[in-house]
Amino acid sequence: MKICATKKAIREEVRETRRKGLSVALVPTMGFLHEGHLSLVREAASQADRVVVSIFVNPTQFGPNEDLSSYPRDPERDLKLLQDEGVAAVFMPDVDEMYGVSGDTFVEVPGLSGILQGALRPGHFRGVATVVTKLFNIVGPDVAVFGEKDYQQLALIRQMVRDLDMPLKIIGHPTVREADGLAMSSRNVRLEPDQRAEAPALNRSLLAANDVARAGGTVADMDLAVRTVLSEASLGKVESVDIRDAETLEELEGVLTRPAVLLLAVRFGKVLLIDQKVIHPG
Ligand code: PAJ
Repeated sequence: MKICATKKAIREEVRETRRKGLSVALVPTMGFLHEGHLSLVREAASQADRVVVSIFVNPTQFGPNEDLSSYPRDPERDLKLLQDEGVAAVFMPDVDEMYGVSGDTFVEVPGLSGILQGALRPGHFRGVATVVTKLFNIVGPDVAVFGEKDYQQLALIRQMVRDLDMPLKIIGHPTVREADGLAMSSRNVRLEPDQRAEAPALNRSLLAANDVARAGGTVADMDLAVRTVLSEASLGKVESVDIRDAETLEELEGVLTRPAVLLLAVRFGKVLLIDQKVIHPG
């Protein structure tokens, strides 16, 4: 496995792969890898001949009061896990290498950036769209794999690729969960034990809303079901519950007539947990 700290090194590595006529899949990450990330790596391996993983904690997607400095990191462990998965190359730049001195150009997807998580985290999706564009330009993959867990991020990247004719295919991969249903996240390690014990309420609330939709309930009924389950998690502060069109993320009302996505954000102390479920009409 090649470990590339510079853009030049990863470009050369990918150029060499292409010279052999092999295709390349990219999995962008911020490291501190878990089974969710590794399942994206396996998906990537099924989509292309060689897998490249990037590990970069991207400062431009963190707000001034967010957890950039405390974001968990363990590059040695990450590299060992990726080696075991048979990854061809890892791109691990530092902030200087990635952004250099100027960094005055940004990629914006205004419609999707300003709503939902984007409204709660101003600038977040501009940082994501910009760094993902840079990664696509540096690595030049045929395919890139993203998790459905970050549903709005996936929708935004799909739109950006479509709008700007970026020459690659985007694959979405389902959320991988702990045995008790908590969506795997690098941030879960920062939960206190009592918070961790309550956190599976997010997934339970999604399942409750799904049952309501299956039984023909309305969006308002689903919202109530979610909030009722979440009220059992006394340490969690519900930041948002949104039931939106699964494709456009537009608001919905009444009984579902098309697939919806339920998007949740719940804060446990300093840790913001998000989760999501696509719900089909009953
Ligand atoms: P990060 O949070 O490290 O996630 C990297 C990828 O793993 C994302 O596509 C995310 O959706 C996916 N992922 C995280 N948890 C998952 C789970 N439990 N199941 C399935 N997939 C999961 O998302 C980012 O990094 C950054 O915003 C990035 C795209 C790298 C840009 O900086």
